[in-house]
Amino acid sequence: MRKVIFDTDPGQDDAVAILAALGSPGEIDVLGIVAVAGNIPLHHTANNALRLVELADRDDIPVFAGADRPFTRRLVTAEHVHGATGLDGPDLPQPSARLREGHGVDFIIDTVRRNPEKSVTIAALGPLTNVALAILKAPDIAERLEAIVMMGGAYFEVGNITPAAEFNIYVDPEAAAVVFASGADITMLPLDVTHGMRATPSRIDAFRRIGNKAGAAVTAMLTFSETYDLQKFGWDGAPLHDPCVTAFLLRPDLFESRHINVEIETASALTRGMTVADYWGVTDRAKNAVFVRSGDADAVFALLAERVARLP
Ligand code: RIB
Ligand code: CA
Repeated sequence: MRKVIFDTDPGQDDAVAILAALGSPGEIDVLGIVAVAGNIPLHHTANNALRLVELADRDDIPVFAGADRPFTRRLVTAEHVHGATGLDGPDLPQPSARLREGHGVDFIIDTVRRNPEKSVTIAALGPLTNVALAILKAPDIAERLEAIVMMGGAYFEVGNITPAAEFNIYVDPEAAAVVFASGADITMLPLDVTHGMRATPSRIDAFRRIGNKAGAAVTAMLTFSETYDLQKFGWDGAPLHDPCVTAFLLRPDLFESRHINVEIETASALTRGMTVADYWGVTDRAKNAVFVRSGDADAVFALLAERVARLP
């Protein structure tokens, strides 16, 4: 059983990642969800996180609001992909559940300190602002965490928000630099692996055939959010990013990875947010991240659908 805090900017793909985790209660114990500004502003990501726990009939799970902006930069959002609410597609009711009192960064710190060493994992699905703020406020948690498993970055697949950078890192590169320098045990799932996880019509249909509320919502989410990427890439399906984190937590054996050095570009206007991955070991920089380069897409989608099917 893995104890997991989700730090997230839902976002349709974040939603699928969280729903699949909630469908895996025997393997993932979701300790809480912390919203961060990213795909859309914080008030939407926090509200969407509440809608998700209600969709899964799990409003016992605490949801907190975290940072409403990056460390130093102006917030860049992605309504063009996710819609005005960030969770356009399904008709999910406004939540009756309320956010918990307190800041999400303090929830992260308190939860990591309250649990045994190396027992809590942060699954980071958005910009790393909250994670970095927690590490800066409580440096001890970097070593105390079991791991940070994050969707973000790109190397061979280059960028998706600029030619050089992936969105989550681009939004707050200074936060990413703090996390990658923290000494925490980091596993990154970059565009290099997520671009191979394409939500083709048959894979979306597998969610539709489940026949429960969650399956119908996931189908509507993916159908909405694929539009932009299908036009951009011209592929047979849009890449499904954040659910790769949940799939990795459940079945790391479905993925191929390498322990390497990754540095974050923060100075250049042209390449801000680029994850400079020393994949071929051409420097003597310390290895600070497990870089997941590929995975078994059929098995990942089957796993996600099987877990969403366990929800109401
Ligand atoms: O680049 C993809 C990432 O940016 C995903 O986490 C998506 O939800 C957006 O946050
Ligand atoms: Ca996300």
